[in-house]
Amino acid sequence: MPTPHIADRSCLTRQSPTLRSILRDATAAEHARLDAQLGALDLCKAAEYCRFLEINAAALLPLEQSLVRASVRDILPDWHDRARSRAILRDLARLGGTPRLLNAPALPDRFAVLGTLYVLEGSRLGAAYLLRKIRQCSDSVVSDNTAFLVHGVGRPLWPSFLAILESHCSELADENDIIEPARRAFSLFRQAAALS
Ligand code: HEM
Repeated sequence: MPTPHIADRSCLTRQSPTLRSILRDATAAEHARLDAQLGALDLCKAAEYCRFLEINAAALLPLEQSLVRASVRDILPDWHDRARSRAILRDLARLGGTPRLLNAPALPDRFAVLGTLYVLEGSRLGAAYLLRKIRQCSDSVVSDNTAFLVHGVGRPLWPSFLAILESHCSELADENDIIEPARRAFSLFRQAAALS
């Protein structure tokens, strides 16, 4: 009998055989909780919009640093076009906000990098939704400082990330190797939202 290929034990054996669907299902509850925490903010009010950016920056900045330390460019050669630390710091500087940076976990292998990237790149989908709402706000302090939310709009960053994510499917022996880092990334955002 032939030795089963490693993919036979991983995502390819599932009914919805994509890493994206595995990650989405595994983190849906975390996303819903985060959505509820951030959704309580009225982003049309400058102070609450600033708080929204501070929460995002508290987790995003250290996570992006961890990704760089884990050589994210080896997986995503266009990382330079995806990193949003500068954009969010620009918005915060103009709004007078100061993020309290959290400690992001080290990312020991490519699946930890991919799980973390799933959360950060996926957050662009929510950002596009929020941007549409913010564009209707009357306060120009809010609507003129959207470098973070607007970042990457009009470029196919999400589909191109998904193509790279799925290209690693057959090498994944244990789904938890990618799910746990994604959960940890969500957890850092939730921790940031809980900071007073
Ligand atoms: C108020 C805050 C947020 C709202 C309203 C929101 C809303 C959404 C919406 C509407 C989508 C689906 C978009 C689509 O399929 O076209 C989405 C996807 C996603 N969001 Fe959020 N989001 C928020 C915050 C965040 C944050 C802070 C993160 C992580 C840092 C995040 C991570 C994700 C991920 C990973 C996906 C992709 C899920 C998938 O695989 O389909 N979101 N979000």
